Parts: sequence; C-alpha cells; structure tokens
Amino acid sequence: MSLSLLLLLLACSSHATHFFGTVMTYTPKTTNNDGSVTVVIRYKLNFHLCSDSALWTCSIGYFCGTESAPELNEVYKESSGEWCQTEGIMTRQVPSNAPFQLILDGGNWVNNIRNGISRWRAVTLVELRNRSDTGQANRSPQTTILPAVRVPSNCQRDFNLLAFDPDGDEVRCRYGNTALSECNPCTTPSVLNLSSSCSLSFSPSSGSDQGPYAVQLVMEDFPRQTITLIQADMLWERTTNIALSKLPVQFVLKVDPAVPSCTEGLYLPKFLPPTPANRARLYTSVNQTLEINISAEANVSTISELLFSGPYNIVQTTSGTGMFILRWTPSEGEDGESHPICFVVQAVLSPTKYHSELRCLIVSIGNGPSSNATATPQAPTTSPVTTKETTAASNQIVIGLRVRISSLSPLSDDDIRNTVIQQLKDELARQGMPLNFTLSSVGGV
Ligand SMILES: *[C@@H]1O[C@H](CO)[C@@H](O)[C@H](O)[C@H]1NC(C)=O
Ligand SMILES: *[C@@H]1O[C@H](CO)[C@@H](O)[C@H](O)[C@H]1NC(C)=O
Ligand SMILES: *[C@@H]1O[C@H](CO)[C@@H](O)[C@H](O)[C@H]1NC(C)=O
Ligand SMILES: *[C@@H]1O[C@H](CO)[C@@H](O)[C@H](O)[C@H]1NC(C)=O
Ligand SMILES: *[C@@H]1O[C@H](CO)[C@@H](O)[C@H](O)[C@H]1NC(C)=O
Ligand SMILES: *[C@@H]1O[C@H](CO)[C@@H](O)[C@H](O)[C@H]1NC(C)=O
Repeated sequence: MSLSLLLLLLACSSHATHFFGTVMTYTPKTTNNDGSVTVVIRYKLNFHLCSDSALWTCSIGYFCGTESAPELNEVYKESSGEWCQTEGIMTRQVPSNAPFQLILDGGNWVNNIRNGISRWRAVTLVELRNRSDTGQANRSPQTTILPAVRVPSNCQRDFNLLAFDPDGDEVRCRYGNTALSECNPCTTPSVLNLSSSCSLSFSPSSGSDQGPYAVQLVMEDFPRQTITLIQADMLWERTTNIALSKLPVQFVLKVDPAVPSCTEGLYLPKFLPPTPANRARLYTSVNQTLEINISAEANVSTISELLFSGPYNIVQTTSGTGMFILRWTPSEGEDGESHPICFVVQAVLSPTKYHSELRCLIVSIGNGPSSNATATPQAPTTSPVTTKETTAASNQIVIGLRVRISSLSPLSDDDIRNTVIQQLKDELARQGMPLNFTLSSVGGV
C-alpha cells in the first residue's frame, strides 16, 4: 500500500514536462544571536502551464537549514499559452553562515530541443560568509530572464543579460559544466556565442538551425580584489579568480524562420523613448510605486503584448498601441534590496511571433540618490545635500554638490583629490555617466 503510493508520487513529479528554464538569486536578511542566518531565496520556474511546478532540494553533504513554506506566484503567462513564469520566494534559516547548495532536478524540457537536452537540472551555491570588504554576508548577483526569447534565423541579435551585483563584485557568465553536474547534460547551443560579461550573441545562419535551444548558463560573482570570508573564528581567502556564489540562468532560445527584413520597427518591434536603456538602474523607495513606461513600434506586424519577468507583484497596463506601463511597489521587507526586471515586446503577423531586443533593468530600493519614483533612462547622480546649477559662459554647465564625507582618519586635500573624487567618479561611471566632465573639490567647511 505505502509502496504503490510512493510510486504514484514519483510518477507525478517526473511527468511534469515542458520546462522553459529557471533562475535563482538570494539575499541574506539577518544574522541571529545564535549565529544562524536568515536568507530570502527567490527563483523563477518556467513551464508550459502555470500549474506545473518543481521543488528545490538540498544538495547531499550540505546543511540548508529550515524552510518556510515557499510562496509561488504567477509572474506572467504568455497570451497564447506558450509559457508561464512563476516566482517562488522561500525564507531559509540556516544554523551557521556556511555555504550550501540547492538543486532542481527533473524532466523534461520542451520537446525537440535542438541541443539535445531533455532532463532539467540546475544548481545554486549560496555563499553567506561575512566579507572583509563589506563586513556583511555575501549577496548574490541579481538577474532574471524570460522563459523564451525569439530571433529569426537570418538576423543578428545580442542578448545582454542583466548581471548586477549588490556588493560591487565582477559578474561573469559561463555555460554549465556537465562534470560539475550543473545541468544534465550541459551541451551548449551551437548558435550562440557567450562572452564572460553575460552577453550572448546570435549570428545569422543558413536557416537549418531553426527550433528551440536550451540555454543553460551559470552566473558567478568574483571579488574585485582579494578578500577574506569570515565564518565563526575561521578565515578563508578569496582571490579575484575564485567565485563566491553560483546561480543558474536557464531559458529557451527559439530560432524562428527567416523574416523578410531584420530592420527594427518593421516586423521586429523597435523600442522608442521613453523606454529605459538596457541595464539601466532605477531607484524607488518602500511603498512608493515605480512606474516604467515602455513604448515600441512595428509597422508591418502588430504589437500584441509586453512579455516581462520580475517580482510577481508587478502590475502591467496598456496605455495605447505599443505603449505599456509596468508598476511596482516595493514593500518594507525589500528596503535596501535591488530587484531585476526584464522585458521584450512581442508582435504577431499570424502565425509568426516576433520579438524586440531584450531589455533588463535593476531597481534599487531605498538606497538611491533620490526618492523620485518615475523611471528615467539617464544615469543618476550621487546624493547631494544641496545642488546649485549655473550656466557658465562657454555653454558648459556647472553643478555644485555639497557632500559630507566621514573618515576614520584625517583627510588631506590630496586624499580628497586622489581617493574621494576618484571613487565618486568611478561610481558615476559605473552608473553609466559619460566621463567627459571635470569633477573637483572646491574646498571644505
Ligand atoms: C562565434 O565567434 C567566433 C569568433 O568570433 C565566430 O567565428 C563564430 O562564427 C561565432 N559563432 C556564432 C554562432 O555566432
Ligand atoms: C557577520 O556580520 C554581521 C553584521 O556585521 C555580524 O552581526 C555577525 O556576527 C557576523 N557573523 C560572523 C559569523 O562573523
Ligand atoms: C514606421 O512608421 C512610422 C510612421 O509612419 C515612421 O516614422 C517610421 O520611420 C517607420 N519605421 C520604419 C522602421 O520604417
Ligand atoms: C508602508 O506601508 C505599510 C502598510 O501601509 C505601513 O505599515 C508602513 O509603515 C509603510 N512604510 C513606509 C516606510 O512608508
Ligand atoms: C508614462 O505614461 C503615462 C501615460 O501615458 C504618462 O501619464 C506618464 O507621464 C508617463 N511617465 C513617464 C515618466 O514618461
Ligand atoms: C558628454 O557626453 C554626453 C553623451 O555623449 C553628451 O550628451 C554631453 O553633451 C557631453 N558633455 C560635454 C560637456 O561634452
């Protein structure tokens, strides 16, 4: 009796087919008095049906702690029923900040995968040890992806994935490694070239490459200089070529029949202003609704919908043909976090679907330069106490920022010039500001 029940359960779970990939990220929340750590793990599960699901399990040999019942919510369902993305949020309490590994294992991917993958397998390494540079537990890179992205076989396209690290680490991508059991197996899609900076490029092909491919990537964060990881009384050195955490980024690439023209705005939708740039960083604060306006045109095909991936409680509205608004209101528990959002505009010319390029954003909550809740594609500035703008004679603009700098040791003018100004400049560059301006200190108070 109990044996037949067990077999039935196994049969049910292995019958969940039509997998479209997964992504997982994590955020450490609190270190408790007994040394235990609470970590919030978010993941996307992509299947043909919203009712399909799969469970992450603890890898043998690790302690993954106790888990609150995971919440699973629908993010977006493609209108023709092609796929559905759900977001899972699980809170785990682990007895110490030792690393642990979670695994998703089952079958099968969608049918007829061109690179021969049928079983799914994904691995996340959660590294929570305290870092000597931040004094806090390591945070994972933040990224997401749609279940499926399309490109006509005759067009060139780059998929520049979001690779944002809240600790400022360098984020690199590689294909999964079968020998490390990171997928089952990890056969790479022959039609894509991957750069370590997480850009995938598709080059026009003969057309014989059409069909779905399973893209099974691993995203890792590397410290920019040697750091020490601290666990209880033990120290571990981490150089710039040893990954801290490891995340799976898996999705389906669909190579479609050739299109008469690859020019954006005809068959393939083209983004128009004020759509934020790819990899833009936006800021909002707790309880303040962020509004992201997205606009696109396609003169031959008909724009039908905005496909997106992000926190499950994003609300989408359509404000006109090819005009969409995504709204998201972060809650108190998300203060200080950064959340990824990706989107693609889909158009149809029956029976064919066309995708715009992929764009992704990172939304930082509460720690931004301003609490302005509207999305602007420009790079943000640092937190000024006061700003003053004057137009100089030569048509240049001078902006004054009054900033307060705290330091444990006295700062000389040279320290300010060489260290503080340089760091400010680096930060502005990191935020996407063109470096064609002069930043100087005009004296302290
Ligand atoms: C990948 O890059 C190499 C070298 O740049 C090139 O020869 C090859 O055609 C590319 N492959 C694809 C599928 O784009
Ligand atoms: C890690 O850092 C946090 C915050 O700085 C601290 O409360 C905690 O005790 C540290 N944990 C370990 C194991 O060093
Ligand atoms: C699409 O039509 C609009 C309005 O007629 C025009 O401004 C735009 O250039 C066209 N786009 C392309 C790619 O031809
Ligand atoms: C956010 O809204 C919740 C519920 O309305 C409220 O309890 C909380 O105080 C608000 N927090 C902030 C920072 O506004
Ligand atoms: C977004 O679109 C709405 C409706 O068209 C408009 O009222 C709003 O001003 C737009 N916001 C931005 C930031 O462009
Ligand atoms: C700096 O570069 C930006 C973007 O290329 C441009 O819009 C701006 O006018 C430039 N500013 C100066 C002072 O050259």
